[in-house]
Amino acid sequence: MASTRTQIGIVGAGPAGLLLSHLLAREGIESILVEDRSRTYVEERIRAGVLEQGTVDILNQTGLGERMNRESLIHDGIEIRFNGTGHRIDFPSLTGGKRIAVYGQHEVVKDLIAARLADGGVIHFEVSDVSVNDFTDTAPKIRYRKAGEGNEIACDFIAGCDGFHGICRPSIPEGILTAYDREYPFAWLGILAESTPAAEELIYTHTDRGFALLSMRSPTLSRLYLQCNPEDDIARWPDDRIWEELQRRTATADGAFRVPEGPILQKGITPMRSFVVEPMQHGRLYLAGDAAHIVPPTGAKGMNLAVADVRTLTTALVAFYKNGDVTRLGEYSARCLRRVWKAQRFSWWMTTMLHLNRADSPFDRRRQIAELDYVTSSETAMRSLAENYVGLPFDDPVAVN
Ligand code: APR
Ligand code: PHB
Repeated sequence: MASTRTQIGIVGAGPAGLLLSHLLAREGIESILVEDRSRTYVEERIRAGVLEQGTVDILNQTGLGERMNRESLIHDGIEIRFNGTGHRIDFPSLTGGKRIAVYGQHEVVKDLIAARLADGGVIHFEVSDVSVNDFTDTAPKIRYRKAGEGNEIACDFIAGCDGFHGICRPSIPEGILTAYDREYPFAWLGILAESTPAAEELIYTHTDRGFALLSMRSPTLSRLYLQCNPEDDIARWPDDRIWEELQRRTATADGAFRVPEGPILQKGITPMRSFVVEPMQHGRLYLAGDAAHIVPPTGAKGMNLAVADVRTLTTALVAFYKNGDVTRLGEYSARCLRRVWKAQRFSWWMTTMLHLNRADSPFDRRRQIAELDYVTSSETAMRSLAENYVGLPFDDPVAVN
C-alpha cells in the first residue's frame, strides 16, 4: 500500500473540505483531500445559492472573491408574500449595512478547486473504499483505493467533511454521538430554468396550496422551488404542472404578477430535515458541515454553516500548530454548536412559518398568518429575521490572514 504523510487529512471536497484546505494552506498547514466523486461531478452539482455577508467576507479576505464579485448578485432584501400581497424586508437598514450574495454553491466549489490546484494543493478525486482509522490515538490514517490501488494518508488530524451520507460520522463508535433529528412532512421540488428571474430579489410565498420560492442564479437563469410531498415522484410533475403551480402559488391579489417561464434544465425533489450530532468531534476526527448537521433549506443556512465550522476548525488548528495550544481544539464542538443550534432554530422557524402542514388545525393556520403579519409589520421582528438571514455575528474576529 502506497503511504503519504500530511498534517490534516480531509475527507470530502465539498465547500467544507475545500475551504478548510484553502484556509489551512494560507496558514502554512498542509492537507490532502480525498473525494469519491469526479471533479466535474462536484463542480456541476446544483445546490444552494445564498451566501451570508460573513461568507462573502471570508472568501474575499482569502483571495477567492474575484469571480464571485463579478458574477454574484448582491441582494439588499427579500420579499415575503402571503394573502396575495408582498412585503419587503430590507437587510442593510436593519442590520447595520449587511447584505447577501446569490452565487451557486457549485460556483464556490469551482473557485475553491481552481485556487487549491493553482497553489499546489492535493485533491484525489474518484477514490473509493475510503476509511478513517486510528483517530483515537495520535496517528490517524485515511485509507482509500484509487484506480484499484490501495493508498494510505498518515496525518495528525482528520477532518470529516464528507456530507450527510459520508463515512466519517458513522465511523465514530456507537454510544459517543447523540443525534437530534426532525423530519418534516414536506419536501421541495426544485427547478433550474432558462428564464428571466421574476424579480430582483428572492420571493418566499405562503399560500393555501403550499409554499413556493422564486430565486435565481443569473440574469437569465431562475432557480424555483415548490413545496411538495416527500413521497412525490418527479415523473408526476411534468413541466406544465410545475409552471401552473408556480403561477398559482405566487399570484398577487391584483392578478398582475407572473413568473416568466422558459425551458427547464434540471429538476429534482429534496426531502427536508433538521439534524445535528453532538459532539462534532471524537479523538482526532473533527466533523464539519453536513457531516455533522443539516438544516431545511428555507433559511438558506447549509453552506454558510459549513463555512463557519471550518473557520472555527482553522483557528483551532492554527493555535495548535503555532503555539502548541490545544484549548481551541477542545472547544471546537461547543463553539460550532452554539452557531449550529441558532441556525437550526432559524431554519425550523422559517420552515414552519411558510409551509402548509396538512396536520395543522385552523387555529395553527391563523397563528401562522399572524406570525407572517407580525414579521412583516413590526420593525423589531423584521430586524430579527434580517439579522439571522444575513448571518449572526461571529464571537471572534476572522482568524485567517
Ligand atoms: N469519501 C470521499 N468523499 C465523500 C464520501 C466518501 N466516503 N462521501 C461523500 N463524499 C463527498 C461528497 O461527494 C461531497 O463532494 O464529500 C463531499 C461533501 O460535500 P457536501 O455534501 O457539499 O457537504 P459540505 O461540504 O459539508 O457542504 C455543505 O452542501 O448539501 C449542501 O446544503 C448543504 O450547502 C450545504 C453544503
Ligand atoms: C437557492 O437559490 O437555491 C435558495 C435560495 C434561498 C433559500 C434556499 C435556496 O432559502
